[in-house]
Amino acid sequence: MASFDEMLSKHTIFKNISVLSPHYIPKTLPFREEQIKELMMILSPALKEQKPRNLIIYGKTGSGKTCSVKKVMEEFGKMKADAKMHYLNCRIYNSRYRIFQKTLKTYMPELEKAGFGLPYLYEKLLEILKEGHQMMVVLDEVDMIKDLDDLIYTLTRANDEAVSGGISIIGISNKLSFKENLDPRSKSSLYETEILFPPYTSEQLQKILEQRSKEGFVEGSIEASAINLAAAITAQESGDARYALKLLTKAGEIAEQNKKEKVDDSDVEAARKKVELDLVSETVNTLPEMHQIVLHAIASLSMNGSRYSRLEGIENDGFLISGEVHEEYEKVCKSLRKKSRSLRWYREYLNELEMLGMITTTPSSRGIRGHTTLIRLGQNPKDVRNITKKNLFGE
Ligand SMILES: Nc1ncnc2c1ncn2[C@@H]1O[C@H](COP(=O)(O)OP(=O)(O)OP(=O)(O)O)[C@@H](O)[C@H]1O
Ligand SMILES: [Mg+2]
Repeated sequence: MASFDEMLSKHTIFKNISVLSPHYIPKTLPFREEQIKELMMILSPALKEQKPRNLIIYGKTGSGKTCSVKKVMEEFGKMKADAKMHYLNCRIYNSRYRIFQKTLKTYMPELEKAGFGLPYLYEKLLEILKEGHQMMVVLDEVDMIKDLDDLIYTLTRANDEAVSGGISIIGISNKLSFKENLDPRSKSSLYETEILFPPYTSEQLQKILEQRSKEGFVEGSIEASAINLAAAITAQESGDARYALKLLTKAGEIAEQNKKEKVDDSDVEAARKKVELDLVSETVNTLPEMHQIVLHAIASLSMNGSRYSRLEGIENDGFLISGEVHEEYEKVCKSLRKKSRSLRWYREYLNELEMLGMITTTPSSRGIRGHTTLIRLGQNPKDVRNITKKNLFGE
């Protein structure tokens, strides 16, 4: 009979897998010393009863923004002062009202009950500030807030009215386009200061992974070259530390499944395919049906190469022509007994697929069928097709 002891001792590779999770915050954050110091400097006036400047933290995904801010919050929490930092994940707290309620609740538990109007919450905020309190709200993924201009306006007004205390905004974002969409007044108010988090280089990722592996893996169970490879692959793609950790964890799992004692390069290569596929399926699975049909059409055609370019002998770098994709889209709709939508909608689907990074489109240069759009799939066509096929046709 199987025994639990046997299962417990099964782990030959991982010592503590939770250390490798992206939710784990390591004791030190190498290569972010400068950003952390700058952040502390900007926030330090709050310890002397002065209002810190508003701040925006910008950097690509997995560049350590969230964990750096959390580290600073931890340090700030140790200080004695009439000041408090509040962390809000704006995917969840995505409106002015929710942010007010969540923040003020820490001072007045009775606000837990819903039903207080915004004016009431605003008065409560003023009461807290008027006692000289310094409040700093960290708005992580600030671009997710639906009424951000209203929020910034209200907080700015509260600051003006409060006289003694103050409220500062620390916005975090990984969207470059976010700044342009802001109202000019909100922009100048939010962008008083900016801290940039650059993506990690291969050498930096290597050090980060080494640090984590020491705690996460059994000693001697991972080849140094495997760590280097994971770092190099990640640096080439994005510099995203979260991706690098995922890659290494998956490599460990694969090695363990294969009853190996040591993770090597081949496990990292295998993990890369698996992680990429996971990321693609995550995105595809959440797409509405019509988008998936368009994607299915693109993937199917990509597997055979563009018909038009073959006919006309054009070298086109794996691009498809919008017209042939649309034809294929109608065909797929028919085989699914779905009514295909108009061209206008079709273009909208293409737009959204491009926004999600699934495809790239470019206007054709002169000569190719007048003016048309060229479409290219971002991922492996066979992988994408397998996913859409399963979702659409159930096979
Ligand atoms: N300098 C670092 N040292 C060690 N681990 C790091 C470092 N930077 C990031 N990480 C790891 O990567 C994970 C992702 O980082 P973090 O969540 O801070 O990224 P982010 O910049 O907030 O990304 P996003 O824009 O997607 O929210 C962290 O939880 C941490 O495990
Ligand atoms: Mg983050």
